[in-house]
Amino acid sequence: MEKIIDEKQQGNSLVMEPKTENKRKLFIESYGCQMNFSDSEIVASILSKEGYNTTQQLEEADLVLVNTCSIREKAEQTVRKRLEKYNAVKRINPNMKVGVLGCMAERLKSKFLEEEKIVDLVVGPDAYKDLPNLINEVEEGRNAVNVILSKEETYGDISPVRLQSNGVSAFVSITRGCDNMCTFCVVPFTRGRERSRDPQSIIEEVNDLANKGFKEITLLGQNVDSYLWYGGGLKKDFKDATPMQKATATNFAALLKMVAEAQPKMRIRFSTSNPQDMTLDVIEVMAAHRNICNYIHLPVQSGSDKMLKKMNRLHTREEYFSLIDNIKKLIPDCGISHDIITGFPTETEEDHQDTISLMKYVKYDFGFMFAYSERPGTMAARKFEDDIPEETKKRRLSEIVALQQEHSKYRTSQFLGKTVEVLIEKASKKSDAHWSGRNTQNTVVVFPKENYKVGDFVNVKISDCTSATLIGEAVGYSDNN
Ligand code: 5AD
Ligand code: SF4
Repeated sequence: MEKIIDEKQQGNSLVMEPKTENKRKLFIESYGCQMNFSDSEIVASILSKEGYNTTQQLEEADLVLVNTCSIREKAEQTVRKRLEKYNAVKRINPNMKVGVLGCMAERLKSKFLEEEKIVDLVVGPDAYKDLPNLINEVEEGRNAVNVILSKEETYGDISPVRLQSNGVSAFVSITRGCDNMCTFCVVPFTRGRERSRDPQSIIEEVNDLANKGFKEITLLGQNVDSYLWYGGGLKKDFKDATPMQKATATNFAALLKMVAEAQPKMRIRFSTSNPQDMTLDVIEVMAAHRNICNYIHLPVQSGSDKMLKKMNRLHTREEYFSLIDNIKKLIPDCGISHDIITGFPTETEEDHQDTISLMKYVKYDFGFMFAYSERPGTMAARKFEDDIPEETKKRRLSEIVALQQEHSKYRTSQFLGKTVEVLIEKASKKSDAHWSGRNTQNTVVVFPKENYKVGDFVNVKISDCTSATLIGEAVGYSDNN
């Protein structure tokens, strides 16, 4: 049976339904960040109007699209491996067309066509509306490339097809691009300059999701705290806005408040925050609204001031600590996670120890840790030698991973004997007799199913834990249902 849903415009609200007249089959898969997964839903929406339904079967696809990530070399290698697989399938199904979307498409542009003969189509993250034209070109036997980056939030008017959705949680994109220019990061080159989406279209999408029964949304952007709507245009051009535009501009704290108040029963999350852009008023809005989850993903990258400066992170270790202190003061039980890179150029054992002591101060709930991977074209690649031996990067990485494991276990054990509110998302991976969901701090909770169902808010009493999961038993519905 077709899994695919399509939308029909009805005023501002959108109705999902199977589109039986669609005859062509699209196989789309995504790698990298949540923004890529969200963008693939926009692509599916654009192509459903062109006669494509999605399929889970690669072998039956007329069109294969892979939404790619460039953040580390390994992410790119994974995509190259997938292209080999498509190549094998294409030998059996020679009419199948293959397109590359996302960050690798933007980074490599038409070079992709030379390097990977299987690729017919290369489309950057801001050019998906041009896909129907590009596919026509390909069908007429030409390769097609569009990697033009935009000055506007490009897809505010498109209602995404929710791919592989549990019908409970959804992503809503609010900003695109990044202006921060961290020296290690390829994102400003692949995603362009920062721009924000009209708050009205964000609220409409959130209301529409609520009407369809969704219970949780995550506001997405490379740097959500930097959100700024003043009528359109790049964030960097805000300085040239009219006095009226400046007076009526909407920042992230104001947007968060609007969304939380538009749907008081809906859980609101957001990602990713940048320490230098996160203001006190965002934390205050979180504290004042029960439906905004008590969880912040707050990448730090390093605990050494010297490294932070070299990475062009525009805050110090002390400033980061005072932000953490403010969060814990206003939201004592706030979950906090991090991203950290080991082995950035010139990182000494002392710098590494600074990272360890920063982690010990914060005791993060969880984190994402990476060995530095030099990315072509970035400031770091141009200015600094990648001088830390691979084995040193890896050793430091395993040290911080082990420490994080300890901290995660410490954090999960704080919940023992307590009752937490959980939104049920799916069956537990390990046992079909258990539900899996998350508490407000974003920690996974599993418990026996009983008569509860996906989408219920349930109070769960915690009796056991691992470093990553809370285990308990439901004690009744929460008052949020
Ligand atoms: N090498 C290793 N990790 C990186 N990240 C970004 N660029 C690199 C790189 N060149 C990590 C950062 C970022 C996360 C999304 O990926 O920690 O926050
Ligand atoms: Fe990967 Fe960054 Fe692009 Fe997301 S924005 S796909 S993390 S390179």
